[in-house]
Amino acid sequence: MESLRWGVLGAARIAREQVIPAIRRSGCGDVVAVSSASGRGRSYAHELGILRSYDSHEDLLADPGVDAVYIALPNSLHAAWIMRSAQAGKHVLCEKPVVLGSAELDQVDAAVRAAGVHLAEAFMYRHHPQLATVRTLLGAGEVGDLVAMEARLHFSLPRTGTPDIRLRSDMGGGCLLDLGCYPVDLFGGLAGRDPDDVAAVAHRDGDGGVDTRTAATLRYGDVLATLDCSFDAPMVDTATLIGTEGTIRLPHVFRTDLVGGVGTVHVDREGRTREIEVPGDAYAEQVRAFTAAVTDRRAAGGEFELTRRTVGTLERIAQAAGLT
Ligand SMILES: NC(=O)c1ccc[n+]([C@@H]2O[C@H](COP(=O)([O-])OP(=O)(O)OC[C@H]3O[C@@H](n4cnc5c(N)ncnc54)[C@H](OP(=O)(O)O)[C@@H]3O)[C@@H](O)[C@H]2O)c1
Repeated sequence: MESLRWGVLGAARIAREQVIPAIRRSGCGDVVAVSSASGRGRSYAHELGILRSYDSHEDLLADPGVDAVYIALPNSLHAAWIMRSAQAGKHVLCEKPVVLGSAELDQVDAAVRAAGVHLAEAFMYRHHPQLATVRTLLGAGEVGDLVAMEARLHFSLPRTGTPDIRLRSDMGGGCLLDLGCYPVDLFGGLAGRDPDDVAAVAHRDGDGGVDTRTAATLRYGDVLATLDCSFDAPMVDTATLIGTEGTIRLPHVFRTDLVGGVGTVHVDREGRTREIEVPGDAYAEQVRAFTAAVTDRRAAGGEFELTRRTVGTLERIAQAAGLT
């Protein structure tokens, strides 16, 4: 696997805290440029030791020394910047949710195909090895046939000061898109298909505000799935997979970085519990998988099909919950 020269679009918190350090840890990439439309590029580059900074994303895209870009802009800006990046010949890793709906995904897909570049959605949890352990256990029939899946993702989002982009409907905010996308992606990946039925409810902050608490029930063939998410509770990040012979419990499924990178897979069967610890570095693995897909032209293992399923399912949940 070769190395990629990365440009970062947006002087973003998540890029500073997770993705830039992960690119550097990955052993297959360096961050050479950052752009910030609000003029924070220079200080951000200085703070993080990035060589070049730009005040416009267009200027970064014109930099011939950038092979791939990481887009960490508000959700409502993802589609436009993916398309411009693709047209500039850059491979794209874009934050989740990659787009706001299927219509945008079709446009993005067409642009990426026309340019012959690679696009991946930054669902880092997909790359933590505990997911591979879960798939192996399910495949081996350790808990029998899957009957039901449950996943929850909650955290407390402060409501003081300037409204966070996650609380702005004009920026593609709301807890379903910000947090619910993870359980939906997990369910779609494990079920390997679109849901047949979708029901959902949501609570909004004020009139016309974004959803701040959302719950959904889905049916994938004979497997039932439930999720809830909110901006209103201390961190909850769990999944439970119930089978005809036992249960797999994941106390930390999406944000293993918050528990030192270690996933713990609990297998309950015949009155006994087996605990399997799986250390990993989800963000760095994400960078390695992306780089392999670009430099070795290695097939990305159905990643985009899963993204399409997740985008479509989120759209159906939003509709069922009266959010669209
Ligand atoms: N994978 C993960 O673990 C994870 C975690 C958190 C967030 N995320 C995702 O990462 C993305 C960014 O999240 P973040 O929390 O890092 O965001 P953030 O730091 O609040 O903002 C990211 C960038 O968005 C632009 N921006 C912010 N407010 C704006 C406004 N009002 N108008 C126009 N542009 C604005 C700014 O770009 P400029 O510098 O160009 O001005 C800013 O640097 C989102 O898509 C989010 O869903 C992923």
